[in-house]
Amino acid sequence: MSRICRALAALSLLSSLVHTVSGAAIPPREDTPIIARSAIAVKLDAATAASLQSRNARTSPAQLIQDLITKAAAGSTSDGKRSGVGSVKVAPLFSSVSTDKLAGMVQQAVKNDPTYVPVDFGTWFQVQFPQSTEETSLDEIAKLLKKLGRNKEIASCQRLGMHRRQLPAAAQTAALKPNDDPLYSKQGYLQGGGQGINAAYAWGFPGGDGAGTTVIDVERGWQLDHEDLVKANITLLSGQNFKDRYGGNYPHGTAVLGEMLMVDNKIGGIGIVPNARGHVVGVQRTVNDGPVENPPDAIVDAASYLKVGDVMLLEMQTADNDSALWPIEVEDAEFDAIRLATAMGITVIEPAGNGDANGIGVNLDGPVVRLGDNSSHSFLNPKSKDFRDSGAILVGAGSAAYPRNRTVWSNYGSRVDVHAWGEHIWTSSVNVTDNYSDDYIEFDGTSGAAPIIAGAALSVQGMVYKNRGKKLSGADIRKLIKVGGTATINGAADKIGVMPDLKALIDGGYLK
Ligand SMILES: *[C@@H]1O[C@H](CO)[C@@H](O)[C@H](O)[C@H]1NC(C)=O
Ligand SMILES: *[C@@H]1O[C@H](CO)[C@@H](O)[C@H](O)[C@H]1NC(C)=O
Ligand SMILES: *[C@@H]1O[C@H](CO)[C@@H](O)[C@H](O)[C@H]1NC(C)=O
Ligand SMILES: *[C@@H]1O[C@H](CO)[C@@H](O)[C@H](O)[C@H]1NC(C)=O
Ligand SMILES: *[C@@H]1O[C@H](CO)[C@@H](O)[C@H](O)[C@H]1NC(C)=O
Ligand SMILES: *[C@@H]1O[C@H](CO)[C@@H](O)[C@H](O)[C@H]1NC(C)=O
Repeated sequence: MSRICRALAALSLLSSLVHTVSGAAIPPREDTPIIARSAIAVKLDAATAASLQSRNARTSPAQLIQDLITKAAAGSTSDGKRSGVGSVKVAPLFSSVSTDKLAGMVQQAVKNDPTYVPVDFGTWFQVQFPQSTEETSLDEIAKLLKKLGRNKEIASCQRLGMHRRQLPAAAQTAALKPNDDPLYSKQGYLQGGGQGINAAYAWGFPGGDGAGTTVIDVERGWQLDHEDLVKANITLLSGQNFKDRYGGNYPHGTAVLGEMLMVDNKIGGIGIVPNARGHVVGVQRTVNDGPVENPPDAIVDAASYLKVGDVMLLEMQTADNDSALWPIEVEDAEFDAIRLATAMGITVIEPAGNGDANGIGVNLDGPVVRLGDNSSHSFLNPKSKDFRDSGAILVGAGSAAYPRNRTVWSNYGSRVDVHAWGEHIWTSSVNVTDNYSDDYIEFDGTSGAAPIIAGAALSVQGMVYKNRGKKLSGADIRKLIKVGGTATINGAADKIGVMPDLKALIDGGYLK
């Protein structure tokens, strides 16, 4: 059961389509079958974009991209009709936030972080194909991207969307029936003694419960009226709350929220920061004639709702040319979006990813060949000329058993900042085989580790805010959260960093 819920199944499926309203009511549960279309993102090179956007340009950016795609597809698909390139729709990639507002965010980023190099978000476009994600083969997209990328007018092109894969089965702990039991005794990740992050200790200090802090979880779907979340008043700010056909989205999103925000009451468990304010933003977004999974737009839109010291949790990863999972920031558009958010002072938390196609953790110091790429880059190796720092906190997964080690499937590398439990994480969820009824599971994955780190960051921020009346920037939180943390048994060799220890931070006087 927990395996189904872990499943970060395939792309797409039935949805419950809920429109964007801040402070929206709890979304309805009925299934509306709106499947995301497959899509790619294209960045024009600066000179091309400038000349096309000038007043006397003879063609538009959209027309140029359409022409280049038609040309590329002519050579790479045997069946031009099936590929449907004749009817692609081109639109700005970052369309949720107005141009003026985005310019303001860039200004804020420059002011807050002198190292921030602004990018021109207007040079990024999205191309929607007529087929759904389920109908398009990744091979075909890879071929198209390879050809498209050879044009001098194209600075970058990539697939749009997220990638999830079910983890291999982990041994389950002796099955308790959490529905009848207060879960707290099973939530070892809250405890101290090197076991967990010492959240329970932090609750004894003002702000340690997350009061005065805000988090946005960005992913595909959530059961916001789960019995142990409904009183947390979590709202959908934008995008769709997408339930899906195979049952992957709601269990996943509901588990992520529960780790941070399960309400302090007599049912279920308790979140790390039950008094933090929680919101969600959906990656599936509608432009033109259909929904598309657009993580970079969702990230920029989420950033537009946040201030210095707030937390954005990115529950997403991407796959390379060989289906190994990588942190989402190896994609260029997502990198641009995350870097803007961190420069604005937002703490961005990002899972390191759940390993290769054989379930073995990927060494992120090595090179990545992205889908449709013609070259490899060591973006995440600080010693490489390719290195680029998004400013996000990268999170690996350790065992629940103490002393901890790295889980076999967790990605690792010098860039991984911290880790947390990646298995046996008791939290809220839904039972997809029982009409999505409220449930509790042992969640896992770097997807499960990342909300523990988000919770720790919110607790730290809450205490700092209560003590100083001012919040820390994401860059400061990234440094601070490691101080006094507990290592895995193999220490530096595991390359997943330490697990934060809130007691060490409090007792060491770091939050005063
Ligand atoms: C949720 O809303 C209710 C009713 O407005 C309020 O009493 C409660 O304090 C809110 N809870 C949180 C965590 O904001
Ligand atoms: C992916 O890239 C690597 C490195 O260039 C290469 O060895 C491998 O064959 C590629 N896989 C596919 C499916 O093209
Ligand atoms: C890139 O393209 C060249 C020429 O087509 C080819 O020889 C090379 O193997 C490609 N490299 C990758 C990583 O796909
Ligand atoms: C961590 O320990 C488990 C249990 O002993 C083992 O199966 C696993 O291979 C270890 N992880 C790594 C990365 O060596
Ligand atoms: C989920 O529901 C099914 C069908 O009612 C039931 O057999 C199963 O035990 C439930 N799983 C859990 C973990 O409650
Ligand atoms: C499934 O759950 C929804 C919401 O609780 C309810 O309205 C609906 O009647 C249920 N359907 C079945 C078949 O039990």
